Amino acid sequence: MNNLKNQLFYKFALVVFIIILIFEGAMLIALKKSFDTHLKDKLALVASEINPKNFSPNALIEIQHKYKIFPLFVKIINNKSNLPLGYSIKKTSNKKEKIISFTTKKGNYFIKVSTFYSTNEDKIKIIRTISLLISFIIFLIVLMLGYKFIDTIVTQIEISFKKLKNFNSNVSHELKTPLAIMKSEIEVALMNEDKKCDKTLNSLLQEINYLNDITEKLLFLTKNDLNNCKLKEIDLEELILELFEKYSKKIHISLHINEDDEYIIKGDKTLLKMALSNIIENSIKYKALKIDIILKKTKNKIILTIKDNGMGIPKEKLPFIFDEFYRVDESHNKEIKGFGLGLSIVKNILKAHKAKIKVKSERGVEFIIEFPLKELSNH
Ligand SMILES: Nc1ncnc2c1ncn2[C@@H]1O[C@H](COP(=O)(O)OP(=O)(O)OP(=O)(O)O)[C@@H](O)[C@H]1O
Ligand SMILES: [Mg+2]
Repeated sequence: MNNLKNQLFYKFALVVFIIILIFEGAMLIALKKSFDTHLKDKLALVASEINPKNFSPNALIEIQHKYKIFPLFVKIINNKSNLPLGYSIKKTSNKKEKIISFTTKKGNYFIKVSTFYSTNEDKIKIIRTISLLISFIIFLIVLMLGYKFIDTIVTQIEISFKKLKNFNSNVSHELKTPLAIMKSEIEVALMNEDKKCDKTLNSLLQEINYLNDITEKLLFLTKNDLNNCKLKEIDLEELILELFEKYSKKIHISLHINEDDEYIIKGDKTLLKMALSNIIENSIKYKALKIDIILKKTKNKIILTIKDNGMGIPKEKLPFIFDEFYRVDESHNKEIKGFGLGLSIVKNILKAHKAKIKVKSERGVEFIIEFPLKELSNH
């Protein structure tokens, strides 16, 4: 759940950051545009106020203060008919500054008023810094509120999830005893000499075994806290040989194990046996005729591959097969019963062993399990 909280928080922070970034960008463009227009308007007004026949340094200072344009350059030129009218922006000789000018004509006089564009732009920089600071503070406040909000929601989800788990666990537990009684009663009835009802009893027994299986799996998934299980040194090769012993009567199994290597890991033998049994039983269930089990050791991991030649899984369905209650194409598997819990049990058990599982499906299905040697020795 902590993972969910962090994921939600990072996504939330990213969205808020992007929104603030867009807002800041839009605001700066608007600010610059309105500032440009404002400066151009002021230059036009200045030019209109200047009397070319009677313009003194005092008048220049007065206008400068009135329109708050610093510095202000005024050029009055007589009899020059080819001077371009209107606005222009030019770089100065040192290329650092830009000069914005407005030229107008009054009678025979050209009046050109100019100012440093960049000096005036400094005002934008001040506004931009203030606005960035405000945005940053808003960003922090929104993040803090968002974190609190996400925390409350995730806690609520956690509580509901726990309740649901408890409910599942209680229901499965309650079902266990009556199912066991029904099973033993049917088994006793089947021992009876009278064979008339055997067909019905056998089919009843099958259904009960099926219900038993789902309650066991649900109980396992809801009751066990696998992260706290005690791990001991176990020999993976030995475990595989035991599984070979158990399943080779049901399906052809080829073992590929390098005898020179040792395959000792820290693990829970019962749990690992349960996980690998689920994978092998799936191969049998989904019509494989043959399984290859390959055990390899590298410098820092042991790689166990279980490969079958069964019906396979479509590529686009592979990412979901470890989800609880997920079954590939119900209609395809209609005649094959299952609850979609086996592989989620596998996933949980392997997670407790810090092992990774990958799946491929070309012809048949291939599960590749990696047990990291380093982490296991520190466990
Ligand atoms: N070896 C396989 N070959 C083909 N399909 C497989 C194989 N292993 C798993 N699948 C597909 O993945 C799905 C999920 O497998 P999982 O073991 O979780 O559920 P299940 O076998 O349907 O039911 P359960 O194991 O709970 O009885 C299966 O429904 C099946 O479609
Ligand atoms: Mg299964």
